[in-house]
Amino acid sequence: MVDDAAAAASRRRPTGPGDQIDDPTAAPHTGIDIGGSGIKDGQVDLSSGALLSDRVRVATPSPSSPKAVADAVATVVDLVGGDGPIGITFPGIVRGGVIGTAANLRRSWIGADAVALFGDRLERVVVVLNDADAAGLAEMRFGAGRGRDGVVVVVTLGTGIGSALFIDGHLVPNTEFGHLIVAGTDGEKLAAASVRTREALGWKAWSRRVSAYLARLEALVSPDPLISGGGISKDHERFLPRLGTRAEIVPAQLFNDAESSARRSPPALARVERPGGDSSDPADRPESARRLAYERTIR
Ligand code: BGC
Repeated sequence: MVDDAAAAASRRRPTGPGDQIDDPTAAPHTGIDIGGSGIKDGQVDLSSGALLSDRVRVATPSPSSPKAVADAVATVVDLVGGDGPIGITFPGIVRGGVIGTAANLRRSWIGADAVALFGDRLERVVVVLNDADAAGLAEMRFGAGRGRDGVVVVVTLGTGIGSALFIDGHLVPNTEFGHLIVAGTDGEKLAAASVRTREALGWKAWSRRVSAYLARLEALVSPDPLISGGGISKDHERFLPRLGTRAEIVPAQLFNDAESSARRSPPALARVERPGGDSSDPADRPESARRLAYERTIR
């Protein structure tokens, strides 16, 4: 009984950005991205940055209830193996491990204790955080936002639109700028990458929508730079030059490689710092390690 309580407590300890896992160097680590359409998983040795397994993807179950998603996550975790901590990114607000919104998943997620759910199902130490926050943390540490002070916003264009706001390198979690109302419509319903596919929009037409969305965003916050992320960033040359933003807009750096080796690294885990801090300059890290920081981010 006492052992069970201790185990449960240990599973619950790290719950979000800024929290720490006791021994993050105990490789390997597993990273999981839960998306509206797919759940992706890979195993990473954080001390070397090496990917220890092929990427595994399963379709997000429908209906995407907490239990069904936990089962799917358990399936991919079993396929990948390992016994280290697991970072999980979720497409909704996550506060203290508890889900606050789930725009592209079943509403029964709202109020669910995701750390308890996944910790109990997987019997592993888990960290759960918003997917865009995780992507943003990776960009700030290893990518387009590296060394950038002031206000930086990372916008991820995928099934929905995610956002991560940084002030002098510090994350303001769960901003949810993807749901800004643009021309009377939820921004992500107008301009997410999935809308381009669903409505068979050309790049020009879709870019106009993204411009309108970003103009709304820039009416409320004044970031510099704006970082455009999500899997569609691999096609950034087709749309970024068309966007009339006030701020400099730059592609998320290593998303360029996302097509071939998507999501291998968990930003949730990139966020798990060595006790006492990691003094190494991310710029000095090998390309493989930097890429690992990006590839488990949202599309
Ligand atoms: C959710 C965000 C999420 C984004 C990208 C939105 O619908 O509200 O929390 O970051 O989709 O998945």
